Amino acid sequence: MKFFVDTAEIDAIAELNALGMVDGVTTNPSLILKSGRDILEVTKEICDLVDGPVSAEVVATEADAMIAEGRKLAEIAENITVKLPLTWDGLKACKTLSGEGKMVNVTLCFSANQALLAAKAGATFISPFIGRLDDINLDGMDLIADIRTIYDNYGFDTQILAASIRTVNHAFESARIGADVMTAPPSVIKAMVKHPLTDKGLEQFMSDWAKTGQSIL
Ligand code: E4P
Repeated sequence: MKFFVDTAEIDAIAELNALGMVDGVTTNPSLILKSGRDILEVTKEICDLVDGPVSAEVVATEADAMIAEGRKLAEIAENITVKLPLTWDGLKACKTLSGEGKMVNVTLCFSANQALLAAKAGATFISPFIGRLDDINLDGMDLIADIRTIYDNYGFDTQILAASIRTVNHAFESARIGADVMTAPPSVIKAMVKHPLTDKGLEQFMSDWAKTGQSIL
């Protein structure tokens, strides 16, 4: 499973990248706002830091304007993935930009039918939003599983990018179902290391080791 980091914070990306945990990055207008940075500048910095796909989202809502913004974003670096919303205009832009050989991430996906349309329009990635479905008392993991089944039924090569991941269980379930990629905030990726029995076991080992009076170095 590939790990994308869902942030525009350079320091957080660099920390995880140094551990080989970053296969790509996703941003959106809200994350750009949170970073306090200029979109073109910060996106360029991220692309310089990370080898994999870096999603940068258009903000136009009409297809021709989306295409123009997508082309401009794609000029930032070769690893830019143009992120487009799952609307009819977004699908038109997806068809055009993917036809030009650009990577496209179709975002704000909340149904399997939407994911099917995005695959047919040539999306490189589809981003189903797990957490936001959970927020309205639906099961976001069901959507990941349904898209996996449909894409496998027909051999679509659009990659399922599990998004809006809020918990370590979202990460685990996405991997178990077979999402190709997950994008998660740095805090969730770091929380995946945590287990109370690891902490307890380490405490015991340290305590027993101290009693031996030995040292390794
Ligand atoms: C990623 O591409 C999405 O923009 C992101 O995962 C949304 O997450 P949120 O629902 O926690 O804002």
